[in-house]
Amino acid sequence: MIRLRLLTAGESHGPELVVILDGMPAGLVIDARSDIDPDLARRQGRAVTGDGGAYRGASARMRVERDVANIVGGVLAGRTTGGPVAVRVVNADHNSWKGKALPPISVPRPGHADLAGVVKFGHDDIRLTIERASARETAARVVAGAICRRLIAELGVRVGSYVTAIGPVKADVSRMSLAGRVDAAATSLLCCPCAEATGRMEEFLEETMRAGDTAGGTFDVVALGAPPGLGSYTQWDQRLSSQLAAAIVSIPAVGAVEIGEALANAARPGTEVHGDLALDPDSRVRRIGASGGGIEGGISTGEPIWIRAAMKPIATTVRPHASIDLASGALAATEYQRSDFCAVPRAAVVGEAMVCLVLADALLVKLGGDSLDEIRMRAAALRQGRIGDFTMRAGTKVFWP
Ligand SMILES: Cc1cc2nc3c(=O)[nH]c(=O)nc-3n(C[C@H](O)[C@H](O)[C@H](O)COP(=O)(O)O)c2cc1C
Repeated sequence: MIRLRLLTAGESHGPELVVILDGMPAGLVIDARSDIDPDLARRQGRAVTGDGGAYRGASARMRVERDVANIVGGVLAGRTTGGPVAVRVVNADHNSWKGKALPPISVPRPGHADLAGVVKFGHDDIRLTIERASARETAARVVAGAICRRLIAELGVRVGSYVTAIGPVKADVSRMSLAGRVDAAATSLLCCPCAEATGRMEEFLEETMRAGDTAGGTFDVVALGAPPGLGSYTQWDQRLSSQLAAAIVSIPAVGAVEIGEALANAARPGTEVHGDLALDPDSRVRRIGASGGGIEGGISTGEPIWIRAAMKPIATTVRPHASIDLASGALAATEYQRSDFCAVPRAAVVGEAMVCLVLADALLVKLGGDSLDEIRMRAAALRQGRIGDFTMRAGTKVFWP
């Protein structure tokens, strides 16, 4: 990120998470209850039921936590000041851990940061790694993403997500519009836009849990209304595609990201993939039938931005893995700890947060400005790719005299 900076701190079972988001413009109205808490509830998988019940397969911790954002800096009288925005999120679960003498953990779980973390930091207790490597940290990202969501909404950008597969069970959403998928997912416990597939996913999750196993899956994040011209091909790290990909694979357990239909496109001929250009009734040059995810040359095209992420199955399994007790060197089985069986619907919300963050940064880089008023004026003057916006009247030039 170029203009925004995000730092998070805190441990999974410590007193609280701390978020600092620096670089936000002044004048943005932020209300923790209506702008941030709903996304925190969605990350917990409890937004649809509302009564505290998450989907089957979400960790029992989701019944303990009631995440709420406590803004402690950068917002005065309900508006951002331009200073760093600081937010605290209390870990309700901390109460069950506070003051307890905890025996060290010395048997690393494959697929977690356990072994890599203790080798790297020289910890004498795997808990020192687990506490920070835990995906509890993603609640802090969701806070920052929700603040960015408020900013980009002011500029007409909407970000949403939906689950497309849990384990081998896939939802066919190909006949639904992107907005339709996001709307339908908002009413589904598993965030899946397709009711028939949701039923099969639920059955699969039940079987998986009964077998003491876990599941991964895929989810899409889409951004509607993003203007053309975000990101740049001029440097590798300024490509919007590379920034989005890095943000998405930074989500714990996400191992692959696709921009548009990248994987399927690899097997298709070029004439089928890139679509055609045509003028719409507003004299805007549009892409018809393109499947590149709304980004060309690392720059947003003005078409919907569409990203797919693949999440591996949860590494904490009831059925133990073979491991080694690092204290004794003896073979040992991993011990089960309370955990999600499948976190794909929850990770999709984190994916939205990361996309909101990257798009807010890209918009601020494109538009500049220190206050929302300034930014709005500049946004109104953005080139939108209308035929009248082009300046194609150049004569012959000598490029390299
Ligand atoms: C929202 C969310 C919830 C997660 N919940 C769990 C969990 O309950 N148990 C678990 O073992 N892994 C969970 N994970 C995945 C682990 O955090 C992740 O696999 C681990 O930190 C190792 O990181 P890596 O998979 O990126 O290598 C979750 C991930 C996300 C995004």
